[in-house]
Amino acid sequence: DGDQSMPNDTPLHFVTLLGSLRKASFNASVARALPELAPEGVSITPLGSIGDFPHYNADVQDAGFPPPVLAMAEQIRAADGVIIVTPEYNYSIPGVLKNAIDWLSRVTPQPFSGKPVAIQTASPGMIGGARAQYNLRQNMVFLDAFVLNRPEVMIGMVAGKVDPETLKLTDEPTCKFISSQIAALVTLTRKLKA
Ligand code: FNR
Repeated sequence: DGDQSMPNDTPLHFVTLLGSLRKASFNASVARALPELAPEGVSITPLGSIGDFPHYNADVQDAGFPPPVLAMAEQIRAADGVIIVTPEYNYSIPGVLKNAIDWLSRVTPQPFSGKPVAIQTASPGMIGGARAQYNLRQNMVFLDAFVLNRPEVMIGMVAGKVDPETLKLTDEPTCKFISSQIAALVTLTRKLKA
């Protein structure tokens, strides 16, 4: 019938980019909760560890991109959107996440270009990593990603929202709020594809 717009039930696939390398990371707990919090027809899988990337060095790049960088760039390009889940370090994003973004930004085609992105931060503190989010948004401006505006997922006092034994995110209101952000990312993604 000539209608080329995307039907609303087309499956979507998002990938998660985790900004912490810590084994018992609270942000990892949040990232692990996401597949269950996604609406039907939306799958969410984790990208590889950014700990596998060397420190960015243009000489290393000139000798050939490290395979983990190329693999992650390809996974991001293939995904319909990216959910970045990260701690705040010293009012900004962790160096290891910035390093990963710097590497990925040098790959052609640049994987974040035109990509829907949602940001989630979690912290044992009150502010929930809010300050890091605006640094990350600034990075994403240059990479020409489409960062979701609202709702902003900033999870404060996260230590009380994760089961200390299972490391599972158990706080119901937090889970509900995260679900609403994933739904908003789905809406943004479908709009951009239409
Ligand atoms: C932190 N932490 C922290 N928290 C915060 O809310 N704002 C901040 O600016 C910082 N700064 C900071 C710097 C550095 C170097 C470290 C190691 C930690 C505390 C941080 O939120 C806490 O360690 C979290 O548990 C880290 O997240 P994961 O690893 O649990 O996901």
